[in-house]
Amino acid sequence: MKKTYFIHTFGCQSNKSDSERIAGDYEARGYEPAKSWDNTDELVVNTCAIRKSAEDRARAFVLKVVKSYADRNLPKPKIIFTGCMLHHGKNKIMEMVTAIDEILPVNEVGFNQSAVRRDKKHAWVPISAGCNSFCTYCIVPYSRGREQSRSMEEIIIEVEDLVKKGYSEITLLGQNVNSWGLEKMGISLRKMLMSDEKFTREMIPNNQSQYLKPEGTPPFVELLQKISAFPEIKIIRFLSSNPWDFHDELVAEIVKNKKIDRYVHLPVQSGSNTVLDRMNRGYTTADYAKVVEKLRAGDPEIVLGTDIIVGFPGETDEEFNETVEFAKKMNWKVGFVAMYSPRPGTAAHRLYHDEIPYPIRKKRWEILDQIINKDNLNNRPKIV
Ligand code: SAH
Ligand code: SF4
Ligand code: F3S
Repeated sequence: MKKTYFIHTFGCQSNKSDSERIAGDYEARGYEPAKSWDNTDELVVNTCAIRKSAEDRARAFVLKVVKSYADRNLPKPKIIFTGCMLHHGKNKIMEMVTAIDEILPVNEVGFNQSAVRRDKKHAWVPISAGCNSFCTYCIVPYSRGREQSRSMEEIIIEVEDLVKKGYSEITLLGQNVNSWGLEKMGISLRKMLMSDEKFTREMIPNNQSQYLKPEGTPPFVELLQKISAFPEIKIIRFLSSNPWDFHDELVAEIVKNKKIDRYVHLPVQSGSNTVLDRMNRGYTTADYAKVVEKLRAGDPEIVLGTDIIVGFPGETDEEFNETVEFAKKMNWKVGFVAMYSPRPGTAAHRLYHDEIPYPIRKKRWEILDQIINKDNLNNRPKIV
């Protein structure tokens, strides 16, 4: 009988997409998918570290699994722990979650095979891994490392394969999709510094972008055009965009290319400029609103969604009210509102100690969630 595997995934779409590739690797090694975690030879727990609650859920899940097998007098499956919690280091994880057998980075669990996709029409396609930004609250640059774009060639080969298999909807994934394929500042700055040409302070971009402004068509726009050129591909989505590197050419492409979904996800994180500054987001609410205005002016059918963190350290009533007012102005269709969760190792955790008490964070979450998700309260995004 073939050995079985099951993957339990926490966290964002990038993690779900990684799990599809881990599944591919298992199947290439001759394993069969188990129907559930409660009857499998190997269990991969693909973790998320974005908030403490996500880590707590992973821990509780492992405990539940171990208890369930013990209650039935069955040998427990081999438990492999992977994903974004690995940034804690093996020793700390072993302390946090005993009963796991192996702690392996995603690429070592198995990542080299094509994805095993359950959905037959829609496919996730990762275009970059990691993140080059340093939003002060965020663990992702540490858990997933620096941003690396996959090559155009590799992505197009994957799309061709999907088209052959009958897929018609694609969601491109990355922490900053608009920055895909851009030339990194780090390298280019060094180049500039080494060249004989005059180098001035003004040559360093003053926003959050870690990249040079592209000449001509930005690579991400080119990628969208190449994928749209497949007649079989009918809908293209992408996650996540950020206000930086949201070039005018990208706005123009979204406006005119109707294969691109009219729903655009654009996290703002806060509607208060002072909070945005503490978050090191590198833009103001006016910069954000400008992108939104351009999109809506180009095509009034475009709808927007966002991510917001409430209760960032030191967030005053006034700052929170600025976010409320901004939300009313932006009129997002959906908002993933999250309560701030301090992440050890991040800049915010070290810099800011004026934590907002839980009841206030909760109250702010409720207020904002009601305002943004008023039209879809029954199926609104649930992250707290
Ligand atoms: N790259 C994307 C998404 C990153 S993670 C972006 O830049 O927007 C998904 C969401 O989790 C973020 O948008 C943010 O709203 C939330 N988040 C990240 N760190 C958090 C923290 N420490 N506490 C609460 N929410 C957090
Ligand atoms: Fe990167 Fe900031 Fe998004 Fe975190 S929130 S993944 S640091 S861009
Ligand atoms: Fe995603 Fe969670 Fe990692 S949101 S990138 S799985 S920390």
